[in-house]
Amino acid sequence: MINLTFNHEHLADFLSDEELLIMQDEVSVCHDMLINKTGKGNDFLGWVDLPAEIDEALLSSIEEDARKIREIAEVFVVIGIGGSYLGARAVIEALNHPFAGMMNSGKKSPVVIYAGNSISQDYHASLLELLSEKDYAVAVISKSGTTTEPAVAFRILKAHLEKKYGKESARERIISITDKSRGALKKLSTDEGYKTYVIPDDVGGRFSVLTPVGLLPIAVAGYDIRQLVAGAKAMREACIITPSILDNPASRYAAIRNSLYRMGKQVEILVNYEPSLQYITEWWKQLYGESEGKEGEGIFPAGVGFTTDLHSMGQYIQDGQRMIFETVITVDSPAKMLNIPHDNADLDGMNFIAGKSLNEVNQMATLGTVLAHIDGDVPNLGISLPKLNEETIGELLYFFEFACGLSGYILGVNPFDQPGVEAYKKNMFALLGKPGYEKESDAIRARINGE
Ligand code: PA5
Repeated sequence: MINLTFNHEHLADFLSDEELLIMQDEVSVCHDMLINKTGKGNDFLGWVDLPAEIDEALLSSIEEDARKIREIAEVFVVIGIGGSYLGARAVIEALNHPFAGMMNSGKKSPVVIYAGNSISQDYHASLLELLSEKDYAVAVISKSGTTTEPAVAFRILKAHLEKKYGKESARERIISITDKSRGALKKLSTDEGYKTYVIPDDVGGRFSVLTPVGLLPIAVAGYDIRQLVAGAKAMREACIITPSILDNPASRYAAIRNSLYRMGKQVEILVNYEPSLQYITEWWKQLYGESEGKEGEGIFPAGVGFTTDLHSMGQYIQDGQRMIFETVITVDSPAKMLNIPHDNADLDGMNFIAGKSLNEVNQMATLGTVLAHIDGDVPNLGISLPKLNEETIGELLYFFEFACGLSGYILGVNPFDQPGVEAYKKNMFALLGKPGYEKESDAIRARINGE
């Protein structure tokens, strides 16, 4: 039994059920490739069964380490980039108090912050200023163990930790999450004696949220990782049991987005009406962008937060180039109550909604926008969650992962590699004079100098 519902009730003007069902044979083939691991990139399909296979010992160990970190740290720094931090951040920010860290009351959990997801000098220098004032611990997360951004950030924070606490105590504040045998981070962790968790060989970064990559930071933030896994497990069962477009929500989503793409809708925007879901969108953008954008193909994944972005991107979506479809995530029940007060003077003219909850107004804004966008030739898909908690977010994550695998296969690409990411790295290393890049250095300098 799953809580998430996926609906395409507003799609009729763009795609009939009959047209959609034409996709069933393609979807069935791709579904079979995914669950029987026979398609492209099949050595990276460990995530498909992950929620059903996570063992008790791993969960207990993560919970125990999280408990220790919560005792010693006011701040927990997650060092990682791409799939090595976005999943954790998506879940934590979806569940966190939006003003976590600034409240004097309520649950006291370490504030989770992020490093090594950019090479910004000002960001990292400012982070050191904060960490000089706080007790902190660090997770350094890199599957390859060779990624520049987290490696540089960890080098900086390791030195800071060792200076602040001494080498022995610093070691107790560092957890490394990396490949079981390869990469510089694995060697460094072994040499330094850090507690280390393994990222399974067959799980790629952007599909790794249900490994220690996501689970450790989420547990440190105080959330129930067992409920998260339980939600993902329930969704997995709904996704693997049948390829049917009618019965499997992930099949339906994958089929619809590919049908719309073939009709010229090349951009999908993921829309939310809750600021706390911003990083679910960022995680989703990476998942779909890196999985599908290759070989000259792929739906461009973009994200907006409404109603905020109705006052920025709203104009384009309603009225610009007609290449967009949207998928709207809604949450039925807010966790907190807040009504709009009556005001005798009514100078802002808002008494017509006095007494209503803010959520009712948000819901009407949602419906009004969906209808306006349909009128503006923007097909609309909907994902609704009854409420935001670990279980429903677990469902949402797995739903998107499974649909992404299916959708990439329908598109005809390998959804589990990312060859395009190497291009900037090659140039950066050549420009920085990395040993082994001498030929590339000469070539790029000649290019810059117009030779
Ligand atoms: O999904 C992916 O594979 C990537 O986004 C990686 O997660 C990202 O590049 C970070 O790689 P690594 O964990 O090896 O440092």
